Amino acid sequence: MSLDFLGNLERTHLCGELRAADAGQPVVLMGWVNRRRDHGNLIFLDLRDRSGICQIVLDKELTPEGHRKGELVRPEYVVAAVGTVRLRAPEAINPKMPTGEIEIEAVELRILNDSRLAPFSPAEEAIQNEEVRLKYRYIDLRREEMQRNFRLRHEITLAIRDNLSQQGFLEIETPILTKSTPEGARDFLVPSRVHPGEFYALPQSPQIFKQILMISGFDRYFQIARCFRDEDQRADRQLEFTQIDLEMSFPRRESVFAVVESFMKAGFAAAGIALPTPFPRISYDESLRQYGTDKPDLRLPGLADVRPAFNDEALATLQIDPALPVVAFRIPAAGELSRKEREDNHPLFDRKKGAKFIDDFKRLAKSFPDAASQVRELARASDDDFVIVVAGDPAHHIKASDTKFPGRLSEREINVYAAAGNFRSELAKKYAERHQAFRVTDEAVQSARERSASSGLIDGAQAFHPIWLTDFPMFEYDLASGKWVPAHHPFTAPYEADMANLVSDPASVRANCYDLAMNGLELGSGSIRIHRKDVQQHVFASLGISDEEARKRFGFFLDALEFGTPPHGGIALGLDRIVMLLAGAPSLREVIAFPKTAKAIDLMAEAPTTVAEQQLRELHIRVALRN
Ligand code: AMO
Repeated sequence: MSLDFLGNLERTHLCGELRAADAGQPVVLMGWVNRRRDHGNLIFLDLRDRSGICQIVLDKELTPEGHRKGELVRPEYVVAAVGTVRLRAPEAINPKMPTGEIEIEAVELRILNDSRLAPFSPAEEAIQNEEVRLKYRYIDLRREEMQRNFRLRHEITLAIRDNLSQQGFLEIETPILTKSTPEGARDFLVPSRVHPGEFYALPQSPQIFKQILMISGFDRYFQIARCFRDEDQRADRQLEFTQIDLEMSFPRRESVFAVVESFMKAGFAAAGIALPTPFPRISYDESLRQYGTDKPDLRLPGLADVRPAFNDEALATLQIDPALPVVAFRIPAAGELSRKEREDNHPLFDRKKGAKFIDDFKRLAKSFPDAASQVRELARASDDDFVIVVAGDPAHHIKASDTKFPGRLSEREINVYAAAGNFRSELAKKYAERHQAFRVTDEAVQSARERSASSGLIDGAQAFHPIWLTDFPMFEYDLASGKWVPAHHPFTAPYEADMANLVSDPASVRANCYDLAMNGLELGSGSIRIHRKDVQQHVFASLGISDEEARKRFGFFLDALEFGTPPHGGIALGLDRIVMLLAGAPSLREVIAFPKTAKAIDLMAEAPTTVAEQQLRELHIRVALRN
């Protein structure tokens, strides 16, 4: 088959934009053949481009040559159609298609390119086998859903960038080839050709550079910044990802919140969602008590303290540790789980950490009916809510059990809350079908949009629940090493009021840092930074980082701190995660054009790979794999 040249032909319209009002209009459309139907003298082509689909009619009488070519084309061929828009006959109108009232009566068809038979059709829903989708990503990306996701990503990014610019932030690029950053996760290293044996690191974040930009007087910086972390992959984690990264001089924590709330509102509005501000706030401890996690999902009711429902006898019989919290949660409208469902859920629950759950609610109700009804009351459960009680296991003793710092939740208390929190979100995900509240699917997003559009009210935000987390502890006690480690990164400032206790009582020091969570996902994290050298030295000392080590890792930065550093602070939000939520997507892979798999592989480009010996030689590298 001979292919046609494009010649002087110029596209006049996009496929998806034609409407009944365009009837009579001469058009030239170009795109991919989505479907082809051969009715003898009439051939129908559904022509697709990124705007949508339009039906082309090739009538043998009108264009014998066009019809002949229509017989040759197959799905995913690239064609140009020249013709006129006409109204479809009433019985041929397709109300499901935006262009369903019209079609193109073609006078010419050019076949611009052919296509091998695609391993799956972009005209259909995503296939189950994600590896095939990723290997043939160029075809997968043709699917309407993917086109929609990337348009959404573009709109959100644009709105956020624009908003930050309006708020006086300058976008400044920071290096990709740089030095280890302090986030603690693992660096990707790049060998230097001109400095044998030396390596650059790809940035895990622009953290140090953005702080230096404050020292340099830029006042407000932002960057839609690519970051690289050699971490294990999950649905919400990629090796390379994008942060909305910002830093500002002389801020109070509230100023950072206001900046973020403003651009989040703008970004969500770009996706058709009205996000009410200010966002609610909760302290880290309170979040653990109420949700068992530092990234609470507010779409579901939280944990209820049901300790008062259990008397000594009940505690003893049920083997509940009386010194630890007893909490209950309900999954609304889930109903009672069947025996099989209860048993199936056991693997979801991790007993290793000293928490147990009382799953057989009926048995509790039988032996301790008062406790059972009080639990349901405290948890505000209605009859068809499913209720689970989580408590501490007295038989379980970990070393940390003695590490109780006054004013802080102990390791064992945290374990009970965290176990309840995990179990709550696992069960909620698992039984999501049973209650609408939890679902952020396409439909949920769509209906939220419709609600906000139709009512003009705030309730369009219903599916999205942002919350600020504050008052994190400055340090965490690492049992293995017996050392205090930073809960955030070591440049986070302590509360001014807690500064005096840095060395004498690190457990009591609160960090001036904050997280933004939404629907059970950590969206962002930031802090007010240390701007004084003396405080920085105290923090390093409390962390057991020697002067020598600090100099080696961050020497240039410590030097910079001595040259008139203004008080400053900032935050970084995961752009991919925001888009994932707004797209109603189950994984970041749906909103990153060329993502890596869970095994850290780019299946399309086939990276990583070995490289030629010559290339290694130039880099002064010899590979000797260790086991
Ligand atoms: P942090 O490490 O918490 O903070 O990262 C900030 C936000 O970036 C997103 N994120 C990721 N998204 C996808 N894949 C990943 N592997 C990944 N890792 C992080 C998350 C997270 O909340 N420099 C500090 C910020 C600051 O203090 O200003 C930082 O990077 O949404």
